[in-house]
Amino acid sequence: PVSVEFLKELPKCEHHLHLEGTLEPDLLFPLAERNGVALPENFPKTTAELEEKYKSFADLQDFLNYYYIGTNVLLQEQDFFDLAWAYFSRVASQGLCHAEVFYDPQSHTERGVALETVTAGFKRACERAERELGITSKLIMCLLRHEAPAKCMDLVRAAQPLIQDGTIAALGLDSAEKPFPPALFKDCYAAAKAMNPDLQLTAHAGEEGPAQFVTDALDLLHATRIDHGINSSQDPALLERLARDRTLLTCCPLSNVKLQVVQDVRELPLQRFLDAGVPFSINSDDPAYFGGYILENYVAVSKAFPTWDVAVFAKIAANAIEGSCVQVTLEDQKR
Ligand code: ADE
Ligand code: ZN
Repeated sequence: PVSVEFLKELPKCEHHLHLEGTLEPDLLFPLAERNGVALPENFPKTTAELEEKYKSFADLQDFLNYYYIGTNVLLQEQDFFDLAWAYFSRVASQGLCHAEVFYDPQSHTERGVALETVTAGFKRACERAERELGITSKLIMCLLRHEAPAKCMDLVRAAQPLIQDGTIAALGLDSAEKPFPPALFKDCYAAAKAMNPDLQLTAHAGEEGPAQFVTDALDLLHATRIDHGINSSQDPALLERLARDRTLLTCCPLSNVKLQVVQDVRELPLQRFLDAGVPFSINSDDPAYFGGYILENYVAVSKAFPTWDVAVFAKIAANAIEGSCVQVTLEDQKR
């Protein structure tokens, strides 16, 4: 396998990172205290107990139940800043150059926190990360697919100014996948895109759901990127299409193991994707919950695929750059 040092030095982009999923237990408890937020009766009482719980999840829903309790401790603009800044500070030492990060406004607006408060805190952290750490970033606003599509449309409307001024670079779709197919959100995606033709479209698909959901995200939502997309491997025609259109799959190896999509990183169809010419990136998803940030995910892949050499990882990193919302041109690099 390639060395950890090489993987660390490799210029990496992260495309699949939920800012709310970076809430470490050692920030969760102090924030709950700072904001006077009561955690549920049966919720673990200490960082150690919570970390113990995070060692295994039965599936996506089991994880999401904890994830949404975690989001409840975030109230003030400063909380959102602190959360994102802790993430950027941490991955700066892992060789991260560029991050396109998700956030879930509905998990906050439902509790009376304004979209503008959430966005301002995250945006301030992004700006500081670029200034002080040299990490560029984009914000991706996600719709919670377990919410009614009409509620999601309300969020899209509320976000119009942020979509139009480019603060929100892309629209995403996350939360419980299997009961909520992409088709439900066709109108939301169309309305958002109509607000700004530069808005990029992505969606979680094929994590627990079938390959058909990936196809639907492409056909009905006009997504140009797919988050997870692991189950695309069940459909050879889809793989051909993804390769032809150079549609990036944002894969999250440690997440897939923690949420029991697979039992081991070796079971992921990453070799199949490489052989079929399907571009993918390696990402951490919800690192505070899944036991690893971006570098640990690269390392896990290199251990699972020990024959992959530096050329393979250089290809993966290049595909990640190509699949980013911003294209860094040679001209930009000269400046
Ligand atoms: N929200 C946070 N992480 C998620 C994941 N892996 N899948 C769906 N929704 C999510
Ligand atoms: Zn995700």
